[in-house]
Amino acid sequence: MLSVEDIHVAYGGVQAVRGVSFEVRNAQVVGFVGANGAGKTSVLNAITGLVPSRGRVSLDGDPLHGRKTADIVRRGVVQVAQGRQLFPDMTVLENLEMGGFLQPPQHVQEDIEKMFAQFPVLQERAMQRAGTLSGGEQQMLAIARALMGRPRVLLVDEPCLGLSPKMVGKLGEVIRRINADGIAVLVVEQNTAFVFGLAHHAYVIENGQVVLDGKPEQLREDDRVRSAYLGI
Ligand SMILES: Nc1ncnc2c1ncn2[C@@H]1O[C@H](COP(=O)(O)OP(=O)(O)O)[C@@H](O)[C@H]1O
Ligand SMILES: [Mg+2]
Repeated sequence: MLSVEDIHVAYGGVQAVRGVSFEVRNAQVVGFVGANGAGKTSVLNAITGLVPSRGRVSLDGDPLHGRKTADIVRRGVVQVAQGRQLFPDMTVLENLEMGGFLQPPQHVQEDIEKMFAQFPVLQERAMQRAGTLSGGEQQMLAIARALMGRPRVLLVDEPCLGLSPKMVGKLGEVIRRINADGIAVLVVEQNTAFVFGLAHHAYVIENGQVVLDGKPEQLREDDRVRSAYLGI
């Protein structure tokens, strides 16, 4: 459904992404693993139009490349930014409302109820300022806010960053449940074990290029992946 072909991103003279291609099929979780600076965020930002790029991106054949971010969100591709990027002085509820700003008002009310059912801690803390939540709660809110945009494809950038192992486990369950609801997920992480535990298909990115891809069970057998990414 989401097709990314030969994407290039450059910042001035720095080639951050050099010809990355991949697909996210319906109802799949796809993972991207790579070290800090490998180009993972740049790939996501290219898909959602947050950085200029060369290449082609399409959703079910409908070209996304060159469109404005709001148009891309409207078509169902929504990003959860690295570092959560919540509105820290707004309440949990207000952050959720912001996530639905492109939706008709009746969807917003309905979806807030859904998010509260799915993330009970957000209901408990509905009137609390987002900046006062724990890291794990903030990540849940960032994901819930993105779901308010009714995505068909959810792009999640380094959700595990700074979270306890217990919280990382919960996050895995949350992503699995979202996917089980029929939303395709592209998750980008330095935490390779996390991605391999979730993804149907994974890509390894180094210096702005895909160097390897396959099913996690295949990649786990690769000597280079084992030493460089799994520490085995
Ligand atoms: N806004 C920017 N300006 C200049 N260089 C950038 C910018 N954003 C990222 N880069 C550079 O591009 C490369 C890829 O960065 P990024 O996509 O953030 O990687 P990752 O998400 O895998 O850590 C890095 O070398 C980084 O320093
Ligand atoms: Mg990044």
